[in-house]
Amino acid sequence: RAEADPLRPRFHFVSPAGWLNDPNGVSQWNGTYHLFYQYNPEGAFHHHIQWGHATSTDLVTWSDHPVALAPSEGPDAEGCWSGVLVNDDGTPTLVYSGRAGERELACVAVGSADFSSWTKVPENPVIAAPPAGVDITAYRDHCVWREGTKWRQLVGSGIRGRGGTAFLYESADLRAWDYIGPLFIGDASQGASGDTGWTGTMWECVDLFRVDGRPLGTPSSADNASDVLVFSAWNDGETLHPLYWTGRYSGDSFEPAGLHRLDYGGRFFYAPQSFLDESGRRIMFGWLQEGRSDAAMVEAGWSGVMSLPRVATLADDGTLRFAPVPEIKKLRRDTVSLPGQVLTGAGTPADTGVSGSQLDLELDIQLAPGAVLRLGLLGSADGGANGTPKEETVIELCRAAEGGDHGTLRLDRTRSSLDPTVDVEDKSGPLPMPEGRVHLRVLLDRSALEIFANGMPLTARVYPTLGGEHVSLAASEGTVRLLSLDAWTMAEIFEGSRTLLP
Ligand code: FRU
Repeated sequence: RAEADPLRPRFHFVSPAGWLNDPNGVSQWNGTYHLFYQYNPEGAFHHHIQWGHATSTDLVTWSDHPVALAPSEGPDAEGCWSGVLVNDDGTPTLVYSGRAGERELACVAVGSADFSSWTKVPENPVIAAPPAGVDITAYRDHCVWREGTKWRQLVGSGIRGRGGTAFLYESADLRAWDYIGPLFIGDASQGASGDTGWTGTMWECVDLFRVDGRPLGTPSSADNASDVLVFSAWNDGETLHPLYWTGRYSGDSFEPAGLHRLDYGGRFFYAPQSFLDESGRRIMFGWLQEGRSDAAMVEAGWSGVMSLPRVATLADDGTLRFAPVPEIKKLRRDTVSLPGQVLTGAGTPADTGVSGSQLDLELDIQLAPGAVLRLGLLGSADGGANGTPKEETVIELCRAAEGGDHGTLRLDRTRSSLDPTVDVEDKSGPLPMPEGRVHLRVLLDRSALEIFANGMPLTARVYPTLGGEHVSLAASEGTVRLLSLDAWTMAEIFEGSRTLLP
């Protein structure tokens, strides 16, 4: 049933069955990439969560392995929630949140050298309780790294009435942990939008790293913004969006410099986790959650998509830029290219000759001040009033009227689906565009959509009902110079039925 769903992605990783949420334990060992994920094979709902496991040698195609962790009697009786994989002197070791009695505590499991069997340590839970005397909103998820002769760990949390935080711990052996203190405490009202609650009452899936590839805690240069703390803002049970602080981690604290949105799709790129691969790239995965109802997920038989792996780099202004790993280009098949041309406002849309629902598009564009480029995807054939398709998902690039280096990236989903029950909220964010230039990359995979405009990501889900595949291009305002457009159909990564390796 799930396999037959036309909305199920074909070149993104999805779980073999049932439910998927956060990426866990993302890493590379002796060339092989490991992706674990929050998994319920029983059905498309969040319950009795296990750790699914898949491996890849190219970050493109994946082999399924048996479940690595499943709840058992004790501190993880109700779920094996999110966590990480670390290399304990050659032993693959998982640090995760065991859930029991509606609370989560840190647990550890050690793996065999071939990653095929995992043994929970007798010391579990390795941290017996959240810090005493602090009124916490929630407490779970782990970021663990080696610093000198010690291990350090962050656990995501929040302090009631104040804001999100991460508690810092230290250990010599990953089994006995000393509490150090909060790394720092966010102000729940702080943030880009000025909305109260923007940074959440709790920070899920905290991920602290150095963008320059050097280990955390090593002395840094004069540059004070090369450490990044990624978290997913959670507001009393609601998943809001991924954010990150730039700043400097040193000693036992983090001095924040700035707060930024990680992905303009908000909750559609949630709970990201990253790792440094063997070639020195900072690679991030995120969970593309669904925008359909709980009942519709259960009915579909599957839920949740893993993002394509994306590489994070630091821009000159000290904020992050992202691009899908270049390996993804291996999936490119039939190609269509458009010659450079000038599009003028309200003119007829250019005939792109591109169609499909599994596409990789790459465009280079020059916008005049006030100009708007409109790229339509998944357009249905049967035009409604004035010839516009009845269903269409629209990406817009807008340059500020006064020109300059700024504009907006927008995803208009309001006409993306005739199904009144799905999420079709608009998504947008500021877009740096030096002199009106934009490099736009669009990866469309049925209901999964990842957009990168000058390295700013916007990830979302769409649920068209009419099976439209038309791609249209127009300037809806002003003059837009299309410098190049190349489009490819993307191959599937899972062929036939998926078999679990022993
Ligand atoms: C984030 C999250 C984590 C938790 C896991 C449970 O989506 O809620 O905080 O560990 O999912 O599946």
